[in-house]
Amino acid sequence: MIMNPNQNDHTTLIPSASEFKSESECEDDNKYQKGVKHLLDSTPERKMKKLPREFVLPLPPRPTATADLDIPLVDLAGLTQPHSRISAVEAISSACATWGFFRIVNHGIEVGMMSEMMKAVEEFFDLSVEEKMKYASDDVMSPVRFGTSLNTSKKHSRHWRDFLRHYGHPLHISPQNPPNYRIVSKEYLERLWELAGGLAGAISEGLGLPAGYIEDTLIGDGLQIIAANYYPPCPEPDKALGLAAHSDHGAITILMDNGVEGLEVKHDGAWIPVPHAPGTFVVNVGDCLEVLTNGKYRSVEHRATVNAERTRISVAVARGPNLSTWIRPAEALAECGAGCRYRPTLYSEYLRLQQSSTTRGKTALHAISM
Ligand code: OGA
Ligand code: NI
Repeated sequence: MIMNPNQNDHTTLIPSASEFKSESECEDDNKYQKGVKHLLDSTPERKMKKLPREFVLPLPPRPTATADLDIPLVDLAGLTQPHSRISAVEAISSACATWGFFRIVNHGIEVGMMSEMMKAVEEFFDLSVEEKMKYASDDVMSPVRFGTSLNTSKKHSRHWRDFLRHYGHPLHISPQNPPNYRIVSKEYLERLWELAGGLAGAISEGLGLPAGYIEDTLIGDGLQIIAANYYPPCPEPDKALGLAAHSDHGAITILMDNGVEGLEVKHDGAWIPVPHAPGTFVVNVGDCLEVLTNGKYRSVEHRATVNAERTRISVAVARGPNLSTWIRPAEALAECGAGCRYRPTLYSEYLRLQQSSTTRGKTALHAISM
């Protein structure tokens, strides 16, 4: 049974089903509802020659390799020693300002823990389609949700992706199967909660704010959401995407993948592929951090491409505010209100805007810009 947040004491902390009910105009083509993995698994020998037309997107040619342009790599070991902390904080703040994306090493999460989580995620997607469909829901904010394509309530083109989405905080709500998923994900999410907290401290300091600023004003008792993405091999991968261009609605996202590349980041108008680096995480600035910094740091658009040979799995864990938090620029960064570039907005309202956008991109953030 899926836990319904209306049946516990946290109704105000986790979005309820009715709050974000998807609209009846929501497509679906029942034939694709069980996911792209199932679509492929039910094709003889898993050999699909042609991409079904619903998945074909109008896409310009893929970027060519840019060997000398790479997202920054930050060594978090520097944060733990007083003498090296300033330079690590500067590296993070410069990465946030120029890219909105960076990779981290020496982050304190053991490789064994990362691969155990990756394995549990893979086992979830390997469950029978009947088992996974127990978590299927039209409600984009359902506490545990298996789905396919994009996570919006509005009509859109199909994307070559299945996903599992659930909460780590304020309540760890997870699927019951595979049997060890609950325990592994709980520990992983607790560790990533701490890691994001450490990054929030460094980011606060880099902005010239007290180290606890982002925790205290934005995410301290907020939502932690995990999105595990599964991108099976795709026939005609140049015509499809796994995940459309979007920015993340929370504050800080920490992502790992299974070694198969596909993430691309928009930088100076071009899509830059992010190469896989074993044992690292990719960190990115979300919309709430863009608002808090009054636009000094941007939540950068990113997307996932697909390939014809290998299954790509990624696990994104985001920390954001709770639903009743007002997201607004920090006073110290908005010249006492005069230079405020974003309208103070309740996070629940912001999510509603973001989840009902068809095109993804950054339309929700534009809607609250002044
Ligand atoms: C996401 C995301 C990218 C990826 O889940 O928000 O951006 O590489 N994922 O799968
Ligand atoms: Ni994302």
